[in-house]
Amino acid sequence: MRTHKCGEVTKQQLGETVALCGWVHRRRDHGGVIFIDLRDREGLVQVVFNPDATEAFVIAESVRSEYVLRVEGTVRDRLEGTVNPNMKTGEIEILVNHIEVLNASETPPFPIESDIEVNEEMRLRYRYIDLRRKEMQNKMRIRRDVTRYLRNFLDEKDFFEIETPILSKATPEGARDYIVPSRTHENAFFALPQSPQLYKQLLMVAGMDKYYQVVRCFRDEDLRADRQPEFTQLDIETSFMSEEDIMEVMEEMMRQLFLAVLDLDLGDKFPVMTYQEAMSRYGSDKPDLRIPLELIDIADDMKAVDFKVFSGPANDENGRVVALKIPNGSELTRKEIDGLTKYVSVYGARGLAYIKVNDRDGGLQGLQSPIVKFAPAEVWESVLTKTDAKTGDLIFFGADKTHIVNEAMGALRVKIGLDRKLLTSEWAPLWLIDFPMFDWDEKTQRFNAIHHPFTAPSCSIEELQANPGKALSRAYDLILNGTELGGGSIRINKTDMQFKVFEILGIGEEEAREKFGFLLDALKYGCPPHGGVAFGLDRLVMLITGSSSIRDVIAFPKTQTAACPLIDAPAPIEDAQLRELGIKLRHPAGKTEAKQDA
Ligand code: AMO
Ligand code: AMP
Repeated sequence: MRTHKCGEVTKQQLGETVALCGWVHRRRDHGGVIFIDLRDREGLVQVVFNPDATEAFVIAESVRSEYVLRVEGTVRDRLEGTVNPNMKTGEIEILVNHIEVLNASETPPFPIESDIEVNEEMRLRYRYIDLRRKEMQNKMRIRRDVTRYLRNFLDEKDFFEIETPILSKATPEGARDYIVPSRTHENAFFALPQSPQLYKQLLMVAGMDKYYQVVRCFRDEDLRADRQPEFTQLDIETSFMSEEDIMEVMEEMMRQLFLAVLDLDLGDKFPVMTYQEAMSRYGSDKPDLRIPLELIDIADDMKAVDFKVFSGPANDENGRVVALKIPNGSELTRKEIDGLTKYVSVYGARGLAYIKVNDRDGGLQGLQSPIVKFAPAEVWESVLTKTDAKTGDLIFFGADKTHIVNEAMGALRVKIGLDRKLLTSEWAPLWLIDFPMFDWDEKTQRFNAIHHPFTAPSCSIEELQANPGKALSRAYDLILNGTELGGGSIRINKTDMQFKVFEILGIGEEEAREKFGFLLDALKYGCPPHGGVAFGLDRLVMLITGSSSIRDVIAFPKTQTAACPLIDAPAPIEDAQLRELGIKLRHPAGKTEAKQDA
């Protein structure tokens, strides 16, 4: 049908007859001459109709936006003064002698322009129109480039790409499962995989040595800007490699990916930071290292002050008191500080004390704050020294249970860093290691796995048993610009250790056998030492394309309530189908309304 793509015709084809197919992007009538910008995936080209080509001209007069055309014509130079240097095809145009309307189009619900504000519901309902926009076409192209690059890299390193089942059984990754009823097994259900974790471990037992898969994962969890209920992982598992070996290959892969796709050098070896250091300095296990602000512990100074809000947590082993210095922050207005106080309250902070350093050498008189009166000058002098505060700076304070301070002040650090444009670099990758194995859940009074229950501890069974709360894991996360891009670990490959971890998590032997009997069996038949990692492909593409939402790099994403407005899913099913599945609805007449998470 065509000899070239619209966006690819250049001066090289001058004088040639070409045939092009595409959509009418724009049509202009210029005193008897009709210009159409014809668009396909590769871009736009200007096609021209002169009235002397009567038949073609008449048809061109009748076409509208988004009609699909096939045109034949001669490539010629554009008239002087009409050359468009911003367009790849901007030096030429096609003088058309034949046109065919391949299909008409109704007026699209919104124009196919990149810089237009359209509400997202609308964009998702007409996703096939939205995806025609140049910006979206570019994102899909980069996604293709990234996936292709990663596949090539791993193929060259002799990884096998192996598919694992989607109709599966619950894998604990911390979210709720999507469940699929089984017609052939009444009262039994499949779960869609939250990740292929256990299958990939079984592949290592099977001697596959190195595996990868570009794989869809399903998690029913609260959605955020960087989370989707179904998303894609680059999932990887290896045998006989240490965590250092794995991190090295993965770092090489990321480095080369950024070079290939963005022509960007991610710099020196990625920093490696322990979980403890990250929590202490940044209040987060995915610190954004582009932001130069840090949390400074000042509990020692606050133990004896006359302000319970500070002295309480300072004397509590589960409490924390920190200072966060904002350079030149004393220009923040009362209203802005109130706004930030509200912001941290979302994370459970009960207030946000501050000091404005109006004159660093002015003693107490140089400080402006509702809390200076609660402590003597030496205390504030020590705080100013620890935070290296200068005239014009502002110091925020957080005092509470450690996890609240970390969440609230960690989030505040990022917000202020981004809002005040304090970033010191464009890209900041790092590895996070030495995570605790478990965290203690006060509510349920039990331990939860910080990664998943198949992650190996870095200590012996005896040490694990003696002090589970202190045990560290052999897990590692890759963080980029404050986003968790991927995570993995060395796995447990011995039955007794696996049982012990289940036991600490409150999973008894019987339950363990019922849920994970297949894994426990497999560990008995020569399971090699193994470990791996999974990267969030959508998140990676989101960062590389500078998108603010993960939905922008997925062709057909779900909304915030985990629905698809385009095909209107989820949807009710026929009674007959329900009967066949042995399912009876509890609210049969109920409208299918989105439920909020409890
Ligand atoms: P984890 O649960 O950390 O590990 O997931 C790995 C990576 O997948 C991405 N990711 C998501 N992306 C979009 N939407 C979501 N809802 C979502 N959830 C996770 C993140 C995350 O870092 N089986 C283990 C990996 C392993 O141990 O090898 C796992 O799934 O980028
Ligand atoms: P109050 O004495 O309650 O008025 O608080 C004095 C200052 O301390 C105010 O600026 C509060 O925002 C702040 N504040 C209260 N609770 C906390 C807290 N847990 N952490 C940090 N600042 C707090």
